[in-house]
Amino acid sequence: MQYAEITGWGKYTPPSVLTNDQLATFIDTSDEWISSRTGIKERRISHINTAEMATLAAKQALARAGLLAEDIDMIVVATCSPDLLVPNTASKVQQLLGSNHAACYDLSAACSGFLYALQSATAQIRMGMANKALVIGAERMSWFMNWSKRDTAVLFGDGAGAVVLEASENKSGLLASKIGCDSSARDILKVSNFGTDMDRYVNPPGPLEIAFQGPDIFKRAVRGMGGATQAVLKAAKLSVDDVDVLVPHQANARIIETLQQHLKVADDKVMVNIDKYGNTSAATIPIALCEAVEQGLIEPGSNIMSAAFGAGLTWAAAYIKWGERTTPLSDYEQQEQDCDKNAMELTRIAREHCLAASASES
Ligand code: UT7
Repeated sequence: MQYAEITGWGKYTPPSVLTNDQLATFIDTSDEWISSRTGIKERRISHINTAEMATLAAKQALARAGLLAEDIDMIVVATCSPDLLVPNTASKVQQLLGSNHAACYDLSAACSGFLYALQSATAQIRMGMANKALVIGAERMSWFMNWSKRDTAVLFGDGAGAVVLEASENKSGLLASKIGCDSSARDILKVSNFGTDMDRYVNPPGPLEIAFQGPDIFKRAVRGMGGATQAVLKAAKLSVDDVDVLVPHQANARIIETLQQHLKVADDKVMVNIDKYGNTSAATIPIALCEAVEQGLIEPGSNIMSAAFGAGLTWAAAYIKWGERTTPLSDYEQQEQDCDKNAMELTRIAREHCLAASASES
């Protein structure tokens, strides 16, 4: 039997940090509100586009797997913030990496995108259709932000995470998963003013923004992730006691706590980094997986449960068995991290546009 072992892991978290206190200088919010309602203290704002972030995370994952870019035969990028609609983001990653033999596609399932992509790539490796794959979650959510809307502007951030999957005899990688979608709630979370749904000549679009019914999503997220996780545990014939690490999507610390209580998982088994990055959509889980390895939370052979939900409303849960190695074979120094602008400077033009549009509406 062939499996798809995770042999490399990498992340790119942009250097420019936007704190809650900085947000409170231009929207009516406070560090106290954001911290207590969401667990977020700061988020990253990227100076480079989604494909470039994806590439930096991929370079680190490749180095840690001890592979060259040309060894890769498939690149999947989960994203809802692509640089362009056509061509796809994955083809840009191929170009930047030089993975000339790789098939390339993007996958759009919002915050659940990485787990959807992991299932898709794993299935292809296990069927013998691919041998070595890069599975990446990358998002430039700051590009969508309407900086005049306090209910959403405080929640999201930018970043990328990646894993390398390799065909292996070792029973590891994604061993059970369940993905799904509750389209009855399709309208409670969306980016409007974009795509062919838009009447672009008759009604010129206003600012892009994420429209959002927070409390409803909160309830559905807890229910969706909890149910999917239980189903995956059952399919894998595991009990909660067998779980070594829980790597949940990071949309709200209170959602994570509710899921943790529902599953009865101890605090020291839960990977939480929402305080540093906010919600980075499809990048969240690969960044969290990468940091869980770096922090020693994930060990060789660890049983990992992961769960996510996002626009659609898509949902996913996954049982991942880590492989034999948590020590990188080599590493990649992300020199390109340098950025000469801070987060307030990077967001200045967008903030001015959003605040002016909001003032003219009222
Ligand atoms: O990955 C999928 C993406 N989204 C999510 O997962 C989000 C899920 N939902 C949530 O995380 C929470 O529902 C939120 C964090 C979005 C909101 O928290 P909440 O406790 O559900 O607050 P609420 O929406 O019920 O709003 C409570 C109050 C309102 O004021 P009033 O009407 O009670 O006077 C809001 O206007 O808090 C106000 N508010 C804020 N106040 C200060 C909303 N956003 C802010 C803010 N700062 N940033």
